[in-house]
Amino acid sequence: KSLKPYNTFGLDVSAKYFVEADSKEKIISALNFAKENNQPVMLLNGGSNMLLTHDFEGLVLKLNLKGIEIISENEDFVKVKVNSAENWHEFVQWTLQNDFGGLENLSLIPGNCGTAPIQNIGAYGVEIKDVMSELSALHIATREIKIFANEECKFGYRESVFKNEFKGQFILLDVTFKLTKKNHILHTSYGAIQSELNDLNISNPTIQDVSKAVVNIRQSKLPDPKEIGNSGSFFKNPVISKSKFEELQKQFPDISGYVTGDEVKVAAGWLIENAGWKGKRFGDAGVHEKQALVLVNYGNATGQEIYDLSQQILDDIWTKFGIQLEREVNIL
Ligand code: EPU
Repeated sequence: KSLKPYNTFGLDVSAKYFVEADSKEKIISALNFAKENNQPVMLLNGGSNMLLTHDFEGLVLKLNLKGIEIISENEDFVKVKVNSAENWHEFVQWTLQNDFGGLENLSLIPGNCGTAPIQNIGAYGVEIKDVMSELSALHIATREIKIFANEECKFGYRESVFKNEFKGQFILLDVTFKLTKKNHILHTSYGAIQSELNDLNISNPTIQDVSKAVVNIRQSKLPDPKEIGNSGSFFKNPVISKSKFEELQKQFPDISGYVTGDEVKVAAGWLIENAGWKGKRFGDAGVHEKQALVLVNYGNATGQEIYDLSQQILDDIWTKFGIQLEREVNIL
């Protein structure tokens, strides 16, 4: 079975076995099949954060749990539970249509709801950890369902417990958010949002306006996976010490970074662009022309070609700046 339609890089690798599961029971019977037949399992949800570099000799389990439900509310807040295979942006749009606040800055992020917490998606000053109350997940080994409160997910910058000590051990089934019904808290301090709202001539923005601004910004510099295969930011922004950053500033006065305490989060896009990679193309594998953090497949690149390109970039950034970049996407 070709996985091309199931990954946003559009990579044409195949799986020996493939099953779609739209219920917890179907997930469990697929896991049983794999166990009985001694097959490794690879989970796929939105396929937006995966670089598939070879065929998969095992069972690909495509998650397909759908549905959105309001589980409680009062005058000020609402708790909404979303199943893992709902598309993230469509869910954000649903919250905005209901005038529920909290997710507007996270508009237009590719992928499905059930993978968003794994890497604690974030954009324009908001991360999923700021609005999520809990999630439920199936423990693969025991087949038990465990509820993880926000703190138990140990969220960090593009990090959670599901990428670290519990890596590969749980299947996220649903995620619950606590959203505002009134007195929405707007996060508009990002320069890009401010100037977009100015361009739109909006001085008293609603949550819907903030979403619109974010959508416009993202569309202006991030490629649409339906047109050009990609996985959003391919690398994380590296965090370095303030002293190291000050050293670099002497050599590169316009280096872009964001200070937090005694550390600095450096814009990997700046490093990659200033090392000369932005817009470079090798066959069908390339570095996006408007955002150097994003690697793209112009059509028929292989996962290996994209991986090799990412390795060349890693090596070059290390040589030029002495900074070790880290990949954000999962590699098969
Ligand atoms: N920059 C460049 N050249 C580039 C790209 C960026 O010089 O090609 C510099 C500029 O100085 C710019 C700064 O980097 O001011 C920051 O750029 P941008 O606002 O586009 O954000 P980013 O740090 O590149 C991060 C997230 C994005 C998220 C934006 C907005 C990571 C790895 N990426 O990108 O997330 O949308 O901030 O908050 O943290 C994603 O994870 O897939 C993603 C797109």
